Amino acid sequence: MKFFDTTLRDGEQMPGISLTVDEKVQIGMALDELKVDYIEAGFAAVSPDEAEAVRRIARDAAYAEVASLARANKADIDAAVDADVDMVHVFIATSDIHMKYKLRMTRDEVLRRIAESVEYAKSRGVRVLFSAEDATRSDLGFLVEAFKTAIEAGADEINVPDTVGVMTPSRMRYLVEHLKAKLPPVPMHVHCHDDFGMAVANTIAAIEAGAEVAQVTVNGFGERGGNAALEEVAAAARFLLGREVGLRLERLYETSRLVARLFGIQLQPNKAVVGDNAFSHESGIHVHGVLNNPFTYEPMMPEAVGNRRRIVLGKHSGRHSVEWALKQMGLEPSPELVDYILRRVKDYAASKRPVDEKALKAFVEEFRGVPVFL
Ligand code: KIV
Ligand code: ZN
Repeated sequence: MKFFDTTLRDGEQMPGISLTVDEKVQIGMALDELKVDYIEAGFAAVSPDEAEAVRRIARDAAYAEVASLARANKADIDAAVDADVDMVHVFIATSDIHMKYKLRMTRDEVLRRIAESVEYAKSRGVRVLFSAEDATRSDLGFLVEAFKTAIEAGADEINVPDTVGVMTPSRMRYLVEHLKAKLPPVPMHVHCHDDFGMAVANTIAAIEAGAEVAQVTVNGFGERGGNAALEEVAAAARFLLGREVGLRLERLYETSRLVARLFGIQLQPNKAVVGDNAFSHESGIHVHGVLNNPFTYEPMMPEAVGNRRRIVLGKHSGRHSVEWALKQMGLEPSPELVDYILRRVKDYAASKRPVDEKALKAFVEEFRGVPVFL
């Protein structure tokens, strides 16, 4: 399977986010090093700065194919092609609600526009990805017709966006199988939004059903509830489906942090795969298990995704955690010392303070009555 990252386009559409050209290029280069297959670097028609960022990423990306979004009109397509991209991502809505209230176009007019815009983009010598916006709320027969029209006009790849995140995994499986059966064989992308918290599950369902490309954003950043998170789809594809993913998974944590920093958004600790708690253990039972064999309470190794394991001392700790922490500090965990520290850790944690190495050292000094030099 392949990854189409749209952090720099759909991710940046997150309310309140505006990256500078340099910030976009920095993220673009990190995505290229991660080895995503495609980078949607932006929407070139939006502004000269946006076009400049797209151009620089297209020039400097050594591995990824670089795309720009374009509405189904000549001006947008020209702006994308003039930014020297490898691929133009042409989109137009195909759901009745979008055609009536947004585009004010009939179905026939939309089909005509698809054919004209895809043909025009192809005539400018680029690869073309065609998206039927709001595909998952479109009339199924019309959606097939729209994709057929795009493919006949020369679209190299097609995308099935779940624009307002209304799919479930079983519906997604049905839709992808149906489209695969009805359409000529071109690579199929899926683009899932997270309005009901199912973007990753829907993406995985689509991949299992035969879609070849997952459209994702780093940390799931994007409009409203966001998009399918790159790191979650990648880890699930690799470790649950056993798929070969070309990504350098060990760079996921670092890339996630870079994007969070430049977007100015702090990640929640319980974020899957790249959160600080993704491989953290406090409860005595869990720590005992993990210290004997990490797979007792971890579904993958933290290093595989660039994260690390943390053993946290707190209210739920047991003797094994304390012994482990003392050994990490180079101290001998005598039974008396462990008993004392465990009692102190629980008291201390009850006042909602983190039991870090400094606090632990202070407890050892209390017990011994002399300073400890580490
Ligand atoms: O969510 C969506 O429909 C999109 C399209 C432009 C692909 O982002
Ligand atoms: Zn989207």
